[in-house]
Amino acid sequence: MDRVEVDLKQEIARLKRERDAVILAHNYQLPEVQDVADFIGDSLALSQKAASTDAKVIVFCGVHFMAETASIICPDKRVLIPDLEAGCSLASTITVEQLRAWKKEHPDAVTVCYINTSADVKAECDYCCTSSNAVKVVKSIPEDKPVLFLPDMFLGAYVAEVTKRKNIYIWPGECHVHAGIRPSLVLEMLKTYRDAEFLIHPECGCTTSMVYYFGNGNGNGCVVNGNGNGNGISCNVKFLSTEGMMKYARQTSAKRLIVATEVGILYRMRKENPDKEFIPISSDAVCKYMKMITLDKVYRSLRDMVYEVKVPEETARRARRAIERMLAIN
Ligand code: 13P
Ligand code: SF4
Repeated sequence: MDRVEVDLKQEIARLKRERDAVILAHNYQLPEVQDVADFIGDSLALSQKAASTDAKVIVFCGVHFMAETASIICPDKRVLIPDLEAGCSLASTITVEQLRAWKKEHPDAVTVCYINTSADVKAECDYCCTSSNAVKVVKSIPEDKPVLFLPDMFLGAYVAEVTKRKNIYIWPGECHVHAGIRPSLVLEMLKTYRDAEFLIHPECGCTTSMVYYFGNGNGNGCVVNGNGNGNGISCNVKFLSTEGMMKYARQTSAKRLIVATEVGILYRMRKENPDKEFIPISSDAVCKYMKMITLDKVYRSLRDMVYEVKVPEETARRARRAIERMLAIN
């Protein structure tokens, strides 16, 4: 660690006390940002943490929709994001106008939005969900009710497969980082690392075929010894949220794990499990938005109290219903 980094970390710690602030960081954040965080987790854990903190200020080291979610849940707190440009390619695949038009085509449907959506979109939905509870949320909806699931098509296809639901309509959105993790890449790695366990985020472009080849992994970390049609490859594949991956990495006896999600998660995985080997499925799986949050920007965020993320009251009220319904199911 160089001198500048040490000084910045000390200054951040001082300002945090002075401002009565808490730093929440997503699992994909840069290592040095994770180091100054009070709490690191996936979208669900971060929203739960935001809901339970006593701090007056939340510095959200993640992308914009996550900071918006914290602001919706905690309207009395000041929620800051160190860079307003930290967006999400998946959240941008659907606008509120597109959603309204889609709902008109299916007036009886229950709408379930992934947390990777803008506050406007959440406000139009019945339920919110994250990758760790999407299956649970959809299962809680009466079977005769059609479901509109948005905006991730790979997560949507995964949920449809696990729940065996036929009346689920899926928005054709994708995340540019995870969509690039294709079945051919995973099959290649499966052949190369036959002794490894595979952790796959359900946003990945390979999810649909992998579920077909190897079973659904029950979405809760259970090991599937599949051989299906996966070109004769027998392997252990699990579909998990980023925090699900973290938990699984701790509890498994496997010594080698292949990780199919954004590479930022490897820092924490390696730190918490020094006796295990973690191999990224692709070193190109980098979310440029997550990496916009640097240590320097976290420092400036606390120093200048920028950039505040505030959702208009009426939008927040409606979006909160969808989020609270999700938290209640969880
Ligand atoms: P998690 O909720 O699994 O952390 O996923 C959030 C995300 O943006 C994945 O790309
Ligand atoms: Fe959005 Fe994809 Fe980045 Fe996750 S990895 S924040 S879904 S762009």
